[in-house]
Amino acid sequence: MNGTEYEDNLEVIVRDSLGCFTPLSADQIDTVSNASKYSISENDRDAGSSSLEDVFGYMAALNKMAVSGNGICADRSGNASLHDSLISTADYISHKVNGASVRYIEIGPEPYKTELIIKRLIGNGVDLTSYIGLDINPESEKAMRLALEPVVGKQRFSYKINDYNELQSSSFGFHDGITVVAMMGFQEGNELPRKMLRILKKLTSKGDLLLSEMQLSSLAGWKPIIDFYSLQPMKQFSQKICERAQLKPAGQHRIFLTPIETELGPVMTAATVIPYKLFDHHRYLLTNCCLKYTKDQFRAARKKENDFQIVKEFFSGDQTVAYQLTLRN
Ligand SMILES: C[S@@+](CC[C@H](N)C(=O)[O-])C[C@H]1O[C@@H](n2cnc3c(N)ncnc32)[C@H](O)[C@@H]1O
Repeated sequence: MNGTEYEDNLEVIVRDSLGCFTPLSADQIDTVSNASKYSISENDRDAGSSSLEDVFGYMAALNKMAVSGNGICADRSGNASLHDSLISTADYISHKVNGASVRYIEIGPEPYKTELIIKRLIGNGVDLTSYIGLDINPESEKAMRLALEPVVGKQRFSYKINDYNELQSSSFGFHDGITVVAMMGFQEGNELPRKMLRILKKLTSKGDLLLSEMQLSSLAGWKPIIDFYSLQPMKQFSQKICERAQLKPAGQHRIFLTPIETELGPVMTAATVIPYKLFDHHRYLLTNCCLKYTKDQFRAARKKENDFQIVKEFFSGDQTVAYQLTLRN
């Protein structure tokens, strides 16, 4: 791996950090790329089926819990749960677009939060002309159609099965109005800041609104992050990633928070590693890594090269999740 490849490879950087900051040693840990966790592999093709539907299902299950309306991430008085923060965000977007027609592009689609947001936009009178989902995982389209076609109408739903690294804003065609690009589910944390900025710059054009959701790191503690990765669907996700790599898990995943050096300074990263056995050797597979910016780092990540300006931020009542709305300059 040359220097540039190393600098762009979050998984390898996190593996090395785990080797420095935890009892694991880096040479015990194997990695798989983020894209390969969600994209069709030779093994899927050989088996004639894929486990990618499950991978999508675990993420969807987390979102179902998040918007279930039972106060997840609310403050002590029950205000600003994730559900309510999404509603506030949708209300703000409705006001901000000021009567213009809206095209909604979702990178890494999920059904529950998106249905909530889109129903709210439409309920607020927004003229939603189309929804476009973009996913590397071909197994998400069916569920997204099922969730959204009844809301937006068959004609206004479209889908692209592609790697986001390979597309640009022109790949979505022209829209006379405002394009909202949404990337939810802490997905921003799956790439290094400079790489994600490059991707987001390419996928947007002047006047677009970009919505991103981030689980924050703060001195209030790491418990919310640990609790999130302890949820059953996250454990199942790790098991599945291990199986997809043709390895047999030998236990439950372990969760670590470990710092990595970036151009924004040190960023805490949540990492899950699952044990497996190779002959007589005990090894680990890094099944997930996700940057957890502080509030300031999340702002700095977007403003780094002056391509975006922050329009509005919403925070969950417990201050652990941010919804950041930015405008592409
Ligand atoms: C952490 S999950 C988040 C899913 C969803 N946005 C949510 O709110 O739960 C990451 C998502 O990004 C998609 N994804 C990952 N890498 C991708 C790539 N290179 N191109 C397109 N989609 C990708 C995955 O299929 C998955 O849907």
